[in-house]
Amino acid sequence: MSEEKLPEPHGPAGALDPFADPGLPEHEPRRTDIDEKAAKRAERQVSLLFVISMLATVAFIASYVGIDKYDTVDIFFFGKIGALNMALGLTLGVALFCIGAGAIHWARTLMTDEEIVQERHELKSDPADREAAIREFQQGASDSGIGRRPLIRRTMIGAMALVPLSGVVLLRDLGPLPGTKLRHTFWGENARNGINNGNTLIINENTGKPLRPADITKGSLTMAKPEGLDVENHDYLAEMGKAAILLIRLEPDEIKSAKQLDWSYEGIVAYSKICTHVGCPIGLYEQQTHHLLCPCHQSTFDLADDGAVVFGPAARSLPQLRIAVNNEGYLEAVGDFAEPVGPSFWERG
Ligand code: FES
Repeated sequence: MSEEKLPEPHGPAGALDPFADPGLPEHEPRRTDIDEKAAKRAERQVSLLFVISMLATVAFIASYVGIDKYDTVDIFFFGKIGALNMALGLTLGVALFCIGAGAIHWARTLMTDEEIVQERHELKSDPADREAAIREFQQGASDSGIGRRPLIRRTMIGAMALVPLSGVVLLRDLGPLPGTKLRHTFWGENARNGINNGNTLIINENTGKPLRPADITKGSLTMAKPEGLDVENHDYLAEMGKAAILLIRLEPDEIKSAKQLDWSYEGIVAYSKICTHVGCPIGLYEQQTHHLLCPCHQSTFDLADDGAVVFGPAARSLPQLRIAVNNEGYLEAVGDFAEPVGPSFWERG
């Protein structure tokens, strides 16, 4: 057995260093370093990957615009899956993969692969260091060949410029702007369509029947909705989220505000059921104090004082709905709420 050769001493004079730096192996040139044809072939391969990435991004946008979201495709083993999701996933995946693969192939075949030793130095940024960094950057740019290989440079810039478009077109999924939708509720439908003088029958949410004043008894809380708003309506939940009301009966002389009295009928008042804090449905009524408590964060509204906030984080009163009684003796709302219901938004600003 031959004796193992010890590394050269690197420590203080005469001492053997067991952690001696073995140095770098000799650089072996790659095929693309010595064969210009091989280098050209690699250049075309890199460019091809970037071009495929560009095509995939274009296909992503075309799929987003052209494929219906309800279309499906049958895929072996997976069964029926959404065609739009599959197309978006595949095309975006190919676009990103080809950029990555192109960059790796470029680095492995065409950029310089000579290892460089950099001695550790103090971490302070003096002008000499900055100059050295700039020199190294320029050296790296020169070694990568980006200046000499315009085909790669242009296709890479094209691929990198197109890929963010995938994210831009997805912004469309944030939906249309709300417009004036937040300012109106279903109670204003008749007024907007010129029906029944703009008045709307008040329907008991539980029985589905129109309400008469006698149905609202003292101490009870009655949930109601506008006539014509049914579960079959396309936007039922969204509309109910704004139109839900509750009715209570007070003694007319308990009502503190002249406007509230004017908008009531024989002491019956109607208020939005949607809390003005962050929109929880309210339903805890205290008969003695006429206070209505929101279960979410305990905002408390005084229904005998214009729905004013008496406690909690809500910043504004509960909107009141003006009511009256029609010729047949049924309760009806006179037009829409006078202000937006639910949480405050930019109408306050
Ligand atoms: S949602 Fe009613 S208090 Fe917060």
